Amino acid sequence: MASWKEELQSRMEKHAAGKETSLLCFDIIDSTNEEAKRQGMTDAPEGLFVVADTQEKGRGRRGRSWESPGGENIYMSVLLRPSFGPEQASMVTLVAALSVAKAIRLIAGLPAMIKWPNDIVIDGKKAVGILTELTLKEGGIESLVCGIGINVNQKEFPEELKQTATSLCLEKGEQIDRTGLILAVMKTFWEDYRAFSGRGDLSSIREEYEALLVNRDRQVRVLDPKGEYTGIAKGINEKGELLVEKEDGQVEAVYAGEVSVRGIYGYV
Ligand code: BTN
Repeated sequence: MASWKEELQSRMEKHAAGKETSLLCFDIIDSTNEEAKRQGMTDAPEGLFVVADTQEKGRGRRGRSWESPGGENIYMSVLLRPSFGPEQASMVTLVAALSVAKAIRLIAGLPAMIKWPNDIVIDGKKAVGILTELTLKEGGIESLVCGIGINVNQKEFPEELKQTATSLCLEKGEQIDRTGLILAVMKTFWEDYRAFSGRGDLSSIREEYEALLVNRDRQVRVLDPKGEYTGIAKGINEKGELLVEKEDGQVEAVYAGEVSVRGIYGYV
């Protein structure tokens, strides 16, 4: 019987995603983001996807770890070599969120939504995390790595995550095809990323992104270090900032790198 790596490689060769992208698979790795960054220091091409079955040092945002048990989930990172500057890098995270949400809808038939800027939620619980990291060189970006962790077939979560985390399998009530989902993410991401990098802003995906934005027209609390406030999320602008209408009618553009946003009644 073919291993998961052989199956993925062989399906990749026949898949549209295989034409401009490449794949590196591991049974165990420290972190696919770390490996993609290491590859970024060689002459590895843009569009290299690193996929692992298990991560020993999976990393989340804000210095947290990302639990990465084997045989159930997806841990993947893509290496990019953008010509744009570091100030545009955070937009790639929104591109990734949209492409993963679309791939989940296609392969699992689940109503995946985006919690701005880049968590994917299903029925109010988080099923995907995305971590984007930059390596800089003089005058610009050496490499940009976008890492995606999808809870696919995991059935148990630690007590402290049970209220806020879920998996595709728990939502669907059946096992989901990990290989098909990896290939779908590669295809949707690559298409959306090319459209984005051609323009240098999110105008190509803004409408689609807003249609899947779970916060849209909902009350949110903006945890701005300069002063917290509550408002209604209206959508995003072409830079990916969240547009929040305050009680006085003024619309603030909230930048993802500086502040976080919470629903006022819980995670979403
Ligand atoms: C988050 O905290 O929401 C982001 C989690 C990102 C996890 C993914 S799994 C694949 C890639 N490798 C890592 O070490 N982290 C990202």
